[in-house]
Amino acid sequence: MTTAYAPGKAILFGEHAVVYGRPAIAVPVTQVRACAVVQDAPSGHGLLIRAQDLNLEHGIGTAVSTDDPAYPLEATVRHTLEWLGIETIPDLTLTVSSTVPIARGLGSGAAIATAIVRALAQHLGRAPTPREVSDLVYPTEIIHHGTPSGIDNTVVAFEQPVYFVKGKPIETLHVGQPFWLVIGDTGIASPTKIAVGDVRRGWEQHPDQYEAWFDHIGAIVECAREAIAAGEIAALGKLMDENQELLEAIEVSSRELEELIGAARGAGATGAKLCGAGRGGNMIALVAPKEAQAVADAVRGAGATNAIVTTVGAIHVVVGATHELPRRDAARC
Ligand code: MEV
Repeated sequence: MTTAYAPGKAILFGEHAVVYGRPAIAVPVTQVRACAVVQDAPSGHGLLIRAQDLNLEHGIGTAVSTDDPAYPLEATVRHTLEWLGIETIPDLTLTVSSTVPIARGLGSGAAIATAIVRALAQHLGRAPTPREVSDLVYPTEIIHHGTPSGIDNTVVAFEQPVYFVKGKPIETLHVGQPFWLVIGDTGIASPTKIAVGDVRRGWEQHPDQYEAWFDHIGAIVECAREAIAAGEIAALGKLMDENQELLEAIEVSSRELEELIGAARGAGATGAKLCGAGRGGNMIALVAPKEAQAVADAVRGAGATNAIVTTVGAIHVVVGATHELPRRDAARC
């Protein structure tokens, strides 16, 4: 029997603009995780996927439509077997479970696919690198999200904070001082595909305006990267607030998210914004450790169905190659 896990993720800065080539910063969230267990099965059994959370049992190779929840799971298994060079479906049972809430901006699809790739590959005799896992999960992200930037599979597979630019190589960056986040859930499911599609339509109709907003978001990310490296927590909070304003401009915020964000700021958060695709899902608030509980309570009091406190204290952030940004350069951070 082989068991593998994968964490959730939160985007600190740069969601949506990252789809258009701007940088973004995301961190793994280890308080929630997906789990995949692979067990040998008798000859002739085939490969059966069981996911109790999704009320799903699916045999690989049996008919499945593209809108069936089993479809991305089957695709992940098939890509992994192909990568392993296995042509005959092995006799196995794959049991999948997850505490990452679905369609709430915490990377549930990437976490489940990552756990499956790791468990299956290890059970069949090969330990993939984080890069290999990330690349194997990316096609599943396309099924879930349509035109994903690749940030979710990267942060989940590498399990490190990432500074991410689509299609660029990664390197590491020092985090000056650990910081604390409260992650509050509106309880509203919001599929990433829909929000990303709506932003694309807005961008197609008003390309100059959206490009300017994306440039501004990209410049905020550059400043945030500097603030993280320098341990300048107050500056980081202001940048979150500024990023939230731009997410409101591109119409991916919502009344429920803004109520939680307002409650967090009112209870002493240094800054707050939605995280992920938006519309529903989760928000994040940057907090001093002594205020974390009060902010979490305030967010719950404002209607959050859940509030997680997490720390970003890793020594390294994974960063992409330098990206030129025209509007808000480091001198203006
Ligand atoms: C989703 O977690 C983040 C988005 O920027 C989409 C993507 O990057 O693929 C909204």
